Amino acid sequence: MSMRADSVSQSDLGQLCELIYSECGIKLSLDKQVMIEGRLKRRLRELDIETYAEYCRFLFSSIRSHKDRQEEIGHLIDVMTTNKTDFFRESAHFDYLVDKALPTLAAEGGGGRELRFWSAGCSTGEEPYTLAMVLDRYAESHPGFKFKVLATDISNTVLAKAKMGVFTSEVVQPVATDYRRKYFMRSRDPSSNQLRIVPELRQFIEFRWLNLMEDFGMSERMDGIFCRNVIIYFDRPTQERLLAKFSQQLVTGGFMFVGHSETLHDMDLPLVPVAPALYRKIKD
Ligand SMILES: C[S@@+](CC[C@H](N)C(=O)[O-])C[C@H]1O[C@@H](n2cnc3c(N)ncnc32)[C@H](O)[C@@H]1O
Repeated sequence: MSMRADSVSQSDLGQLCELIYSECGIKLSLDKQVMIEGRLKRRLRELDIETYAEYCRFLFSSIRSHKDRQEEIGHLIDVMTTNKTDFFRESAHFDYLVDKALPTLAAEGGGGRELRFWSAGCSTGEEPYTLAMVLDRYAESHPGFKFKVLATDISNTVLAKAKMGVFTSEVVQPVATDYRRKYFMRSRDPSSNQLRIVPELRQFIEFRWLNLMEDFGMSERMDGIFCRNVIIYFDRPTQERLLAKFSQQLVTGGFMFVGHSETLHDMDLPLVPVAPALYRKIKD
């Protein structure tokens, strides 16, 4: 019979919430103990650990290196939050990008250089691949247009999947047929329903592990940052600090895309709203 403990001690729970908040900005409320336990159970099973107490010892152990601890925190975030994403999610953003943002950036002097975009909290890759498809299509009709995409996440599990670029046909469903024909290839096995992103598209994207709570460690400024459906987990002061860092990372005139349920209202930032869930940096 299983001997799994059925509750986390108050001191472990407090330490756990504190760690998750300080390391990744996610504020879990102590009164959500049952929810937290339910989600933690998944991680205990994956590690074949019997009790919450044992898991907490494993997590807090001082002999674990910073890198190991960060990796485990990525797994913790996997179970505590959702990695839900879609191709062409909140598609009005991609229409705005093509119809307004790219022509504006080009007209204001960005036309001659390579434009840089960042999908921050990219999950399994649907967002950066959508971005690359849209930008590559734009490049076809605008000779000389060059771009690259950086895609980052705190979870190594989702990043590994994103890098593989293999998706089931159900997941690829929102992609229009002409995009699908150009940017996906079928598996050689006719019974498989998997599609793979073509290397010609993959080459535009660099996938990298990054915890948004830490220093970004990047010297290059971005022309557009997509951080959508990520800050929803953070409390207001953490959201504001993060958006201030994103603002610094943007070129003046660069675009900041957030999720449609996320608002920057009342935050002291050099960003002005230009469309729903879309802001533009006005000054340095
Ligand atoms: C719901 S997904 C959003 C994916 C995509 N941006 C979209 O809108 O479809 C949120 C992602 O944010 C990542 N995330 C959460 N906290 C993070 C942090 N502190 N640093 C980096 N990524 C984080 C999660 O691992 C998850 O993959």
